[in-house]
Amino acid sequence: MQRLTNRRILLGISGGIAAYKCAELVRLLSKAGAEVRVIMTSGAMEFITPLTMQALSGNPVHHALLDPEAEAGMGHIELAKWADLLLIAPASANLISRLAQGMGNDLLTTVCLATDAPICLAPAMNQAMWRDPMTQANMERLQAAHGDNLTVIGPDAGEQACGDVGPGRMMEPEAIATAVADRFDTGLLDGVSVVITAGPTREAIDPVRYISNHSSGKMGYALAAAARDAGARVTLISGPVTIPAPDRVQVVHVTSALDMLQAAQSELEHCQIFIASAAVADYRPASVADQKVKKSTDELSIQLIKNPDIVATVAAHEPHPFTVGFAAETQDVEHYARDKLARKNLDLIVANDVSRTDIGFNSDDNAVSVFWPEGQQRFDTMNKHSLARALIELIAGQYKA
Ligand code: C5P
Repeated sequence: MQRLTNRRILLGISGGIAAYKCAELVRLLSKAGAEVRVIMTSGAMEFITPLTMQALSGNPVHHALLDPEAEAGMGHIELAKWADLLLIAPASANLISRLAQGMGNDLLTTVCLATDAPICLAPAMNQAMWRDPMTQANMERLQAAHGDNLTVIGPDAGEQACGDVGPGRMMEPEAIATAVADRFDTGLLDGVSVVITAGPTREAIDPVRYISNHSSGKMGYALAAAARDAGARVTLISGPVTIPAPDRVQVVHVTSALDMLQAAQSELEHCQIFIASAAVADYRPASVADQKVKKSTDELSIQLIKNPDIVATVAAHEPHPFTVGFAAETQDVEHYARDKLARKNLDLIVANDVSRTDIGFNSDDNAVSVFWPEGQQRFDTMNKHSLARALIELIAGQYKA
């Protein structure tokens, strides 16, 4: 089920008594980390309310094809593109028949035609309807048309709601969720909780002024997206930046180093990998003026006090998450990075040479050397997204070693 983390599952519910089991199905898929959106046919809404499905999926339910308002929100083509997988459960005899004819006479059938995503279908109907040659012919037609893109889940045999016994029961939600998870490749960090700090911190001097560092947040944001794509559950603790947050990543916005520390500590209980890419201000003003400091004397002194070291605090925590730090050095990179690795009790450190003006800080590119107690690896200049993917691969390998 770990493979469902961050996956976008579009659940199509058609009309049948088994529709009530979709409440549990959505709960299982969401618990496994999937983002779920639901389409209901008008028949489905006779059996279970859209409100139930909305509450469980956390997203509005889609049911109208020709409603301009609904189409303005997320139309059928957008829904079809959004899905990593389309799951139809329960699939009634009527729906299977309409799909086999290639019809697009409601939202669900239209999305089926419009999507390139793999389709999983969990039939559910009376045993005689399932055995009917027309239903069987429709299933064969669908399988021939979709090939490997279609997975049929069940149906199960047993006692039916109408009292009959035989094949046609919808598979249990647990079995459906497992079959859906099996359609996805395993990711390097499936289900692993990763917390990433990014961007600068701002240390207030007075209500209008602050001390900060150069940092665009690009590297940390790219790492968050790469960790998400590897299947991780990602929390991004971000200082003030101007770039958009990656989707399917939980973002906690902070301003100062003390805020960042507090946010990091409140994530520690579930955190398995902690990556500190933030450019935290080393010092903060000893006191913050309540009012704007007036321009008067030619010289002004601000007393600074040291900020807590966030990554070292995390690394000292028990249980210790796999902790990754960054080091921005201008000389003797390996020596200073290895010193920081040992001093802060890190598991791995990513060092960049900030004396070079073509990479690092606000640039889109970066080149780094990575050090860990038993090894090291060099990554030559590449864009931050490619570098983030390479770093996540290395971090996942060392985390599991
Ligand atoms: O000691 P230095 O600032 O060079 O260490 C850099 C590493 O430590 C980075 O990973 C940075 O995010 C982290 N750091 C921190 N809290 C601080 C200072 C640095 O987490 N107060």
